[in-house]
Amino acid sequence: AILRSIKTSLFRGNQCRAFSSEAVPDRKVAVLGAAGGIGQPLALLMKLNPLVSRLSLYDIANTPGVAADVSHINTRSEVNGYMGEDQLGQALEGADVVIIPAGVPRKPGMTRDDLFNINAGIVKNLCQAIAKYCPNALVNMISNPVNSTVPIAAEIFKKAGTYDEKKLFGVTTLDVVRAKTFYAGKAKVPVAEVNVPVVGGHAGITILPLFSQATPKANFSDEDIKALTKRTQDGGTEVVEAKAGKGSATLSMAYAGAIFADACLKGLNGVPDVVECSFVQSNITELPFFASKVRLGKNGVEEILGLGPLSDFEKEGLEALKPELKSSIEKGTNSVLLKL
Ligand code: NAD
Ligand code: LMR
Repeated sequence: AILRSIKTSLFRGNQCRAFSSEAVPDRKVAVLGAAGGIGQPLALLMKLNPLVSRLSLYDIANTPGVAADVSHINTRSEVNGYMGEDQLGQALEGADVVIIPAGVPRKPGMTRDDLFNINAGIVKNLCQAIAKYCPNALVNMISNPVNSTVPIAAEIFKKAGTYDEKKLFGVTTLDVVRAKTFYAGKAKVPVAEVNVPVVGGHAGITILPLFSQATPKANFSDEDIKALTKRTQDGGTEVVEAKAGKGSATLSMAYAGAIFADACLKGLNGVPDVVECSFVQSNITELPFFASKVRLGKNGVEEILGLGPLSDFEKEGLEALKPELKSSIEKGTNSVLLKL
């Protein structure tokens, strides 16, 4: 009963109405970094997802134990664990969705950009393998700094001749999850009913929640909106400080990653009107990548939705975030183009 209620709240059961269980297509999901703080609970949540038929868990260490453990859960998917680079190809072959939480997390006092040097190298290697072994997969990038790792992935795929901008996603769902939670708490409305788009990027002021578009409507003062915005922008840092050197958000991130991967799978399966915010190649602003609401379909991004009407405060936030987001994007792109 507990499992059923977790599954219902996570995956809302939409697919059950849309398909009989026989009609649910086979889907392979690969998690790269599956033995990590995010990877383990994410592996659990993907094992609970009835849309997954094969769950592939890859890490440079400790995957056999995680895979053995998760594989005992009596749900649909077959689980396989892969460890070390010589097993990466097998882990990826045939994947429909690849989720990447591989890389180092922040410690107090660090910015996400401080992770660039080490995580850029990890993401480059993994994306080269994706281009080789599952070039058609949807890629869900979680590794930070997302504002740079997504452009890095795009350049690696371009180099390999496999880039499809509809299939590369920076996972910003945790920003939406946080904005919904903080808004509901302040407005005293049921959190399950709350919707808040979050646009821009995934670091500090580049995270721009659009509370003027939040539903259900609440009567907040300008000060309240400012405080909610700041708390959403600093949500990651709040967790990093609370964990005091033991890493960053893992459980809430696994939840957010599972929501986003589920949306990708629903889109692939032809479920209509699947909309989530994500950091994607975009022309809704002058920046080459931008997070906004996107409609997901059988080929990945089906439509990038516009920003909608913004309040003056949000318009200011949008202009303020552009220089930082632009330079993080360029840093990622140049690190591949100029082999930095
Ligand atoms: P972690 O250190 O607990 O786990 C990372 C895992 O990656 C480890 O198991 C490690 O062995 C593995 N790894 C390292 N190099 C690898 C490689 N080349 N191939 C495969 N696996 C490899 O860290 P974590 O807390 O799980 O965080 C992972 C990343 O996710 C960090 O970069 C963090 O900043 C980021 N993150 C992003 C968001 C977001 O909203 N997008 C939220 C939270 C954390
Ligand atoms: C988050 O938003 O929690 C992640 O990006 C991790 C971090 O470093 O804050």
